[in-house]
Amino acid sequence: MFYQVYPRSFADSTGNGVGDLVGIRDRLGYLELLGVDALWICPITRSPMADGGYDVADPRDIDPLFGGLTALDELIEEAHERGIKVTMDLVPNHTSSEHPWFIEALAAPPGSPERARYHFRDGLGPDGSLPPNNWPSIFGGPAWTRVTESDGAPGQWYLHLFAPEQPDVNWDNQEVWLDFEKTLRFWLDRGVDGFRLDVAHGMAKPEGLPDMAAVASGVLAHLDDNDPRFNHRGVHEIHRRIRRVLDEYPNAVAIGEVWVDDNDRFGEYVRPDELHLAFNFRLAETPFEADAVRDAIENSLAAVAGVGASPTWTLSNHDVPREVTRFGGGVVGLARARAMMLVELALPGAVFVYNGAELGLPNVDDLPEDALRDPTWERSGHTVRGRDGCRVPLPWEGPEPPFGFTTGRAWLPQPSQWAELTVEAQLEQLDSTLSLYRAAIELRGARPEFAGPTLDWYGSPSGCLAFRRPGGLICVLNASPVPVALPPGQVVLASAPVDGLSLPPDAAAWLM
Ligand code: GLC
Repeated sequence: MFYQVYPRSFADSTGNGVGDLVGIRDRLGYLELLGVDALWICPITRSPMADGGYDVADPRDIDPLFGGLTALDELIEEAHERGIKVTMDLVPNHTSSEHPWFIEALAAPPGSPERARYHFRDGLGPDGSLPPNNWPSIFGGPAWTRVTESDGAPGQWYLHLFAPEQPDVNWDNQEVWLDFEKTLRFWLDRGVDGFRLDVAHGMAKPEGLPDMAAVASGVLAHLDDNDPRFNHRGVHEIHRRIRRVLDEYPNAVAIGEVWVDDNDRFGEYVRPDELHLAFNFRLAETPFEADAVRDAIENSLAAVAGVGASPTWTLSNHDVPREVTRFGGGVVGLARARAMMLVELALPGAVFVYNGAELGLPNVDDLPEDALRDPTWERSGHTVRGRDGCRVPLPWEGPEPPFGFTTGRAWLPQPSQWAELTVEAQLEQLDSTLSLYRAAIELRGARPEFAGPTLDWYGSPSGCLAFRRPGGLICVLNASPVPVALPPGQVVLASAPVDGLSLPPDAAAWLM
């Protein structure tokens, strides 16, 4: 089980209101208790933080905000002592606009080698005042920004699929590859166990950067598989090169962020000589309906089956609303999130748990507008609030904010109702979400009933699903409004109280 840490929001050791690596190290005991095998830590490299660290100014240094290189070395050492692996987030698709390369590119003339590390183009129209193509940025507005040349005149445009502070690099340029290889080795040599690769379907761009057929206006929307901005075939050669480096380091793993719907195209990313794992986001996008969930599971399994890779499962991450809220919020949303967690942890493959999911945290949808930090808020002209609601700092202990997260003022305010959701409040409570997670993760790691790479579906009443793993585990989900009879077997874990015979609505159970 991978545990995703959003470092700004996990635990702050300095009192500046932003989480850091010492904060993570201080909580390794908690992560061990939870049963975590590996951490995925969102970007901690040097960054001006225009996009929470996904704008990297130096990929081979740790930002002082997170404690610098020493803090990472110490975290890795102590995590390894506890048997926990550490994977880092790398951002190959773009740099920060404060990366030395981009500063050099701005100072250099059109056509220069400095500009060739990025995608600079002349604008369209008689005076070049129109963007070179019609691509929108994922964060809203055009994917192009015009620069001012050194003589003060309006000049070329550069491509940024995300914020203007995140210029896309040109992967056809050898220097880009050589520098990325250096980054991979730098961290692997330091003892990092692997990487989560950001926008792993985005690095290669189609020849000539052709217009999109239909321009979608959706901010944060990942389009269909024909979107020329992503999933260009050339990306696979990049993954092969990355894999060749990783293969020199025993057990190093690369996990790609791959927003690709078509199962065959998705599977291409996890061929034996490419990524080890790729995120499948179907469960994170599926409503709480048995047929939809079954569909998502079947699709995710089918996507990797052809190439013999392991499936991955995730209910949420730092980019999507938390599952409690997605499934309806309140008591019902929480019950459903608990049920879906049992479904997820019953599946074969790698599970990714987003920090705070184990506490049943809801999204915080009423953050004050002046607290919002996601670039989408500004880029969308204050129409899309963005992803801050799932990034609110974790509540650790005590009756009121900041709940032990910091001794200062948390970078995003926490709701006072989180008093009952703190780690402290849930740890000793047998029916808490945290206890359910701990029990589920422990069973999954220890019991032979979870063995086998496949599953078989059972017939089940409408609104329900049931499957059996070859090892013998049976998982039942009741997404219908009425209680349903449980199949024969002994209930070993359930997301809600069961009498041994029937499963209430919005609940799941494991039987052996
Ligand atoms: C990925 C990250 C997201 C980030 C974007 C740009 O989608 O998960 O948080 O904003 O890439 O780097």
